Amino acid sequence: MSSSTLTAPLQPRLRLRLSHLVYFPCAYGGLPYPVGCGKSGLGPRVFVSRKRRQLVCVCLCPASAALPNCSVQQSMEISTHQEPFIYVNDKRYEITRDCDPEMSLNDFLRDTLNLKGTKVMCREAGCGCCTVCAVYKHPATGEIESKPVNSASLADGFGSQCGYCSPGFVMSAYSQLRDNPKATKLEVEHFFDGNICRCTGYRPILDSMKSFACDAGKAGGCLEDLERGCCRSQVGKVPTSGVAAIARGWKGQKFYNPGTLKELLTLLGRLRNDNYRLVFGNTSSGVFKEDAIADHYVNIRNVPELYKIEETEASLEIGSNLTLHDLLVLFARVANDNKQAGRAYLGQFSRHLQQVANQAVRRNGCWAGNLMLKLAHPEFPSDLFVLMAASGAIVKVADSIDGGAAVQEYTMTDFLRQDMRGRVVTSALLPLSGGVGQRFGSFKITPRALNAHAYLNAAFNVSVDSANGYTVTDRPRIVYGGVCDKFNHAVKTENYLQNKSLIDQETVNGAIKVLESELNPAEEATWSSPQHRRSLASNLLYKFILGVASAALPAADSSGAQVFVRRVQSAEQDFEQEPSELPSAPLGRACPKPEARGQTAGEAQYVNDAPSRSNELFGAFVLAQEAPAKLKGFGTEEAEQVPGYDRLITAKDLEGRYDNNYVSALIPPQFAQTEEILVTTEVRYAGQPLAIVLAKSQRAADRAAALVTVDLEQTGEPITSVAEAVAKASVVMEPPVETVGSEDVAKELDSQPCRIEGQIVVNEQAHFFMESLTASVTPCEEGLLISVPHQWADALVMTLRRVLRRPANELRVVTPRIGGGFGGKLIMSDLIACATCVAADIAQQPVRMYLTLASNMQLAMKRPGMLLRYKGAVNAEGKLRAADWEINNEVGYTVNMQTSSSTPWTWGYRCPNYSFRIRHMRTDKPESTFVRGPGPAVSSLANLLLMDHLAFEAGMDPIEFKFNNLYKDGDGDNFQRMWSELLQLADIEARRKEIEEFNKANTFRKRGLDMTAVSYQIGYDRGRPSQVYLTVQGSDGSVTLTHSGAEMGQGLGVKCAQAVAAKLNIDLTLIKLKPTDSHVTPNNDVTGGSSTSEWNCQAAVNAAEQINQRLETLRAANPQDSWPALVGKAVSAGICLAAMGVFTADNAGRKAGRYCSTGVGAVEAEVDVLTGLYEIRRVDITMDVGRSINPGVDIGQIEGAFVMGMGYYLMERTVYDADSGRNLTDSTWEYKVPQAADTPRDFRVHILKSTSNPAAAMSTKAIGEPPICLAPLCVTAIKRAVEAYREARGKPRRHLTFDMPLTPERYCKPRI
Ligand SMILES: Cc1cc2nc3c(=O)[nH]c(=O)nc-3n(C[C@H](O)[C@H](O)[C@H](O)COP(=O)(O)OP(=O)(O)OC[C@H]3O[C@@H](n4cnc5c(N)ncnc54)[C@H](O)[C@@H]3O)c2cc1C
Ligand code: FES
Ligand code: FES
Repeated sequence: MSSSTLTAPLQPRLRLRLSHLVYFPCAYGGLPYPVGCGKSGLGPRVFVSRKRRQLVCVCLCPASAALPNCSVQQSMEISTHQEPFIYVNDKRYEITRDCDPEMSLNDFLRDTLNLKGTKVMCREAGCGCCTVCAVYKHPATGEIESKPVNSASLADGFGSQCGYCSPGFVMSAYSQLRDNPKATKLEVEHFFDGNICRCTGYRPILDSMKSFACDAGKAGGCLEDLERGCCRSQVGKVPTSGVAAIARGWKGQKFYNPGTLKELLTLLGRLRNDNYRLVFGNTSSGVFKEDAIADHYVNIRNVPELYKIEETEASLEIGSNLTLHDLLVLFARVANDNKQAGRAYLGQFSRHLQQVANQAVRRNGCWAGNLMLKLAHPEFPSDLFVLMAASGAIVKVADSIDGGAAVQEYTMTDFLRQDMRGRVVTSALLPLSGGVGQRFGSFKITPRALNAHAYLNAAFNVSVDSANGYTVTDRPRIVYGGVCDKFNHAVKTENYLQNKSLIDQETVNGAIKVLESELNPAEEATWSSPQHRRSLASNLLYKFILGVASAALPAADSSGAQVFVRRVQSAEQDFEQEPSELPSAPLGRACPKPEARGQTAGEAQYVNDAPSRSNELFGAFVLAQEAPAKLKGFGTEEAEQVPGYDRLITAKDLEGRYDNNYVSALIPPQFAQTEEILVTTEVRYAGQPLAIVLAKSQRAADRAAALVTVDLEQTGEPITSVAEAVAKASVVMEPPVETVGSEDVAKELDSQPCRIEGQIVVNEQAHFFMESLTASVTPCEEGLLISVPHQWADALVMTLRRVLRRPANELRVVTPRIGGGFGGKLIMSDLIACATCVAADIAQQPVRMYLTLASNMQLAMKRPGMLLRYKGAVNAEGKLRAADWEINNEVGYTVNMQTSSSTPWTWGYRCPNYSFRIRHMRTDKPESTFVRGPGPAVSSLANLLLMDHLAFEAGMDPIEFKFNNLYKDGDGDNFQRMWSELLQLADIEARRKEIEEFNKANTFRKRGLDMTAVSYQIGYDRGRPSQVYLTVQGSDGSVTLTHSGAEMGQGLGVKCAQAVAAKLNIDLTLIKLKPTDSHVTPNNDVTGGSSTSEWNCQAAVNAAEQINQRLETLRAANPQDSWPALVGKAVSAGICLAAMGVFTADNAGRKAGRYCSTGVGAVEAEVDVLTGLYEIRRVDITMDVGRSINPGVDIGQIEGAFVMGMGYYLMERTVYDADSGRNLTDSTWEYKVPQAADTPRDFRVHILKSTSNPAAAMSTKAIGEPPICLAPLCVTAIKRAVEAYREARGKPRRHLTFDMPLTPERYCKPRI
């Protein structure tokens, strides 16, 4: 947020001008009636929906927002005379005093009030899907900022795919626009640094939201509308409870709400020796969850003394209750308002704070809480600590022993040594006395652009005499975070630099040498390597020095001082639509999804959004914490204490009654290996479900599951990576070698003049869908009603039939919608559905399970890790002649799923002879599974790297080399045409020249550009039907459509509706999509492989044609009749207006796929070689989608797949504990998927025009997965930049290879 949000000048006295906007990640959100109105087409706009008021406004009197477990107590108003209460949507709710202090506001709103508009996923303040907006009265100033909760819709701008993230985006946007109505486009983009969307690739979301920006040039919506529904009148004065407890929890925990510093200190005196916790934002529990549990909670938000701001000539005093956002705004203003030398550094302080956490955390978390994290966990790379320590800040602490009479002052280093029991940080003094020579710099190097903790952070504060060779005049302050728990100040380097000239090369080299001698980075599994952090530390010092002395340096070298300043994203979507704009002729037009408005308004119901029933039980898995191991038994003593605990279900309860094996019924029994629902004895991987706890709420079940003790005996060392599996020859299956072309590929390889060989190691990837794994099962008269987000209802029915030993007609599987699937809601949904069914059948009560993110990540199957070895050869003309692949594919603990075996290993390039050998490698991890583009995503990377290596060895330009080997048109679908069109559209030649110039002019910034092609085989070899069931209502002509696929954001539903509307010649709005239901469209096929949409569309056409046929005579007789009149007559004539359309895919005799989805792409990247940080500057993609059924949807699939690929190739990293085999990256804190700021700054997508695809149903092409295969270009574009740097430095020419993902750690090397 820029300083423009704070307008009044700061006075050198106590002054408060704080934003009262509160976000409640993990609290609530809801999208009642949205903003303004919009236009049609693909452009960004918003709409008004007032159908179902999910939630409007939370009025919080004590103004206490806590993340991620915002407790209800923090949010309620208390007086001594009445029960505590809270206002939601202008409605008052009493809250009993024995309400659990650990109950989150999210739980209260979702479970108690049944307001499900706001979603829940991580409970770590890391994903933003639960964001809400709240109103409160500031405890110190009494100012009210009323923030009604509203919804700006992304729906019509294609900003919502699965829709699970959409309410959170809307709330983030709305809340912040209220706070900063004049936000620029860049600021609007920055609103979403705490929101994750796994589907869209963010572009349409950003475009929709930027329509509100003051520099957008067009109005996106009307904010005035939002005032309605605001319950600002309900915000009372800040009530407090003195030193009395206001609530008592299930274990006797107490919650206090003091109103003055005196009361707070009195309380602290009383609780000094107890297990208490001060609570301001409670955001720290998103980082260190175990810290959050205490016997006493003391809310300090209502202590006015802690909000002090005082500016004098010498210092700026900041009260400990100022949030990080308050500081960000305050510092920017102090630096800008008063241009005195000693204040300038606060500008950098403020800029750095923009990179700390995310909007919601910054607005809720206070700086003192951040420092306390550093005190409790010295290894924590606190940005606040680094900045404050470098500035020379002094922390003030009041002690309950003397009632705060003598406030103690500490340097930052001394503060870390304090015992803070019974004490409270009251404020800090930031010096403002630096002279004109003061130079302050700070850096934060992160695995993701925003909302990520640092690999390493650093701040430097020196005073230099620029007239005297930039000689350091005073003792500098050099502070690092992320090195180890003991290292903060680089004391020896500080000493060394005193009185030395910073433009003396010897000084610089000497300083780096001293620094390296005193740095001893700790080895931590989830951190980057010690070598990386050591290199970074010295590079950052060097970077800082370049910045200080930039005026004395050649311009090219000063590029090393720059940091990336993200530009606002620009984008282009280039496609043609079918000409007719009649609503009854929607095929080929960019029609928004009918359900999108409900999604963005929080009205769309996902499985876990169904209201809970009084007799419903909730389940949570007890997971193995180590493997391989033997299960000995369980202890439930502690778990039973949790209120609402019902029972523990173990494998013993399944014995004899159920088949404890959820292996898919589709795997032939002779090959299928058992996959236990609950472990009997052998634990195969850490994270494997051992038991299910049932309780009366999800929260109680999760809590009790964590308290179940498990007796395990580890039986061996786990194998946790494919590389380890290869080293230990852990091969479980080795299919015969496959060859194409020559039988003797080795001979072909040997006979060519240019040969290469290499190895690529690729990490796994988690689906990381926003809707966690979930299932809800209701025993009923007809059997079991199973509501589950599942990509293959019928496969689940077959598996359940075997597990439950019941006929399929008693098992009704319903999938209303899926909050992100990507292949992860196939086998994994089988597991949770089977577990929930068994639990419900045993309990004979409805049971629901919604996994926590940690459980989901622990047990989740992933895209397999791979170790690939290749050989390749080209002839003298630079033509690829032969390739040989050895593919070591990680299958996890069982070989049931082999996601790579049928993958073709040539990608748009002609390779006449090749062979591939697959070895399936066993690891002690969950089974590997399908993730968007399974197989192709890795093989396209591998093939691109092979081509890159060959071009290098052949001494050819990589782009020309690839063009030289590209399939001819006709061989492989428009390759030549797309390539040459993209050369023009993306202005490749001119840009390559520009890049060359740029690279010459910048020593430490380099750019690279690369192009490639994708050819993705689409198989039609299913043999199972896709079905669409249509009913026409005779009373009004409205139509219901039930398809057999699973709608998970890919637009299957809207495409089917378009097909039906077009065939029946009716308005699209007459069609209502219904949940997929195994009893309506049974025996269906999987939703996967990208082609389900076209198959279901073809089935929809078939159904519509049946109805048309039945109406033919009537229509001919009544040509003037409207549709409702016609169907009305049809009913009277006894014509059946229901039809089941069927389409069965087959490969039409082809061995491999029926056709290829093809495309070409170009990516330009820029790398800061000192930090390894990069920016994907521009992406151009052309995809041949045949005749697009809905180009708006297809563009979204292209952008979303590409960005998911960016995560896979550049960012997403899993780490397992070598001893226990446990996934250590099971949180948003550790597992980083791309966010909006990581996406290409210039994102242009072209859909090839005037093309068709007669080989496919609907003449279209599958599009959900293929574009992921263009994202490896990010890797080679970065590689080009690194090569340019090496070449400029005169480094020996060699082919560079990196393991994946290509995190900065892989290529950031020491400066010298
Ligand atoms: C998703 C996420 C991302 C984050 N990213 C970053 C990051 O990039 N860089 C970074 O540095 N930090 C990061 N953080 C940490 C964040 O800055 C802190 O969680 C936050 O500042 C803590 O403030 P709080 O008000 O929520 O503290 P709380 O959680 O309420 O309290 C934290 C601790 O401080 C104590 N405490 C609070 N106030 C006082 C006081 N006045 N006196 C004595 N004790 C007190 C409490 O007793 C408690 O032990 C991140 C956190 C999250 C959840
Ligand atoms: S931020 Fe609250 S659920 Fe993720
Ligand atoms: S639409 Fe954003 S997560 Fe699916």
